[in-house]
Amino acid sequence: MVTLPLGDGRLMPQLGLGLWRTTDAEAAGLVRTAIDAGYRLVDTAAAYGNERGVGEGVRSAEAGSAVFVTTKLWNDDQGYDRTLRAFDESLRRLGLPVVDLYLIHWPAPARGLYVASWRALVRLKAEGRARSIGVSNFAPQHLRRIIGETGESPVVNQVELHPWYQQRALRAVNAHLGVRTQSWSPLGQGRLLSDPIICRIATRHGRTPAQVIIRWHLEHGLIVIPKSANPDRIRENIGVLDFRLAPDDLVAIAGLDRADGRIGPDPVTLSL
Ligand SMILES: NC(=O)c1ccc[n+]([C@@H]2O[C@H](COP(=O)([O-])OP(=O)(O)OC[C@H]3O[C@@H](n4cnc5c(N)ncnc54)[C@H](OP(=O)(O)O)[C@@H]3O)[C@@H](O)[C@H]2O)c1
Repeated sequence: MVTLPLGDGRLMPQLGLGLWRTTDAEAAGLVRTAIDAGYRLVDTAAAYGNERGVGEGVRSAEAGSAVFVTTKLWNDDQGYDRTLRAFDESLRRLGLPVVDLYLIHWPAPARGLYVASWRALVRLKAEGRARSIGVSNFAPQHLRRIIGETGESPVVNQVELHPWYQQRALRAVNAHLGVRTQSWSPLGQGRLLSDPIICRIATRHGRTPAQVIIRWHLEHGLIVIPKSANPDRIRENIGVLDFRLAPDDLVAIAGLDRADGRIGPDPVTLSL
């Protein structure tokens, strides 16, 4: 598996399995399937309700100890003390002594608690219980504020990103601040798989549309976590390490970016 260096000196696998909308019962088997297929990164969250299953899958796999586990703090648990308690609960559900990456799931600016939550993550990192810490759905002003107030940069900003919503400006800010960009809903929740330009490129390479899109993320230096609850598609999605997109493919996909391409909510106004 290809890895990328993070700002704190650690390495993170560039491709992993997303587990939103999978149950505890399903997650264990899917994680095992993924690890057997070569995945070394799994992405869960307290809000997904499947940390137990994800932890079970990681612990039961022979290569489990080499797997990079990400989980996330839910909005209701923001605030310094609550974050520390929520983290303990996540570890307990996962059945792990430590996570590789702990993220603040959303800035939820209306709550006014993301800086206090970040201070708690800084403590968890100092204690070695979260090996790396980062954020999700943070806009530039949120990033600058936590860095300015604590001196500690997140290693990752996990945001909605796919060919219809390429986030060029935010990617540039992340890069300037030394923050890796990670793409959520990298396949546009499946909607991009029938895009005619993607399908045409896939046919030309003898690959599937999902493989073309995942390859596009990798070639842009993005960390990508496609979700599938289907073992064959989990294997298909990692079969992308042996081909490259051509320059004109990249130009064609660059042209798919659109102003209304966002599928999920706007993190700046979301008041969850
Ligand atoms: N931080 C955040 O706020 C946030 C928000 C959303 C998502 N995420 C993370 O990002 C991960 C990925 O995003 P996502 O789950 O929203 O969507 P996604 O990965 O863009 O797309 C998943 C959809 O594509 C289908 N699919 C996957 N591989 C396929 C293939 N090879 N061929 C055909 N269909 C395929 C899946 O169906 P099947 O399952 O039936 O294969 C599913 O319907 C999540 O699971 C989660 O870990 C984070």
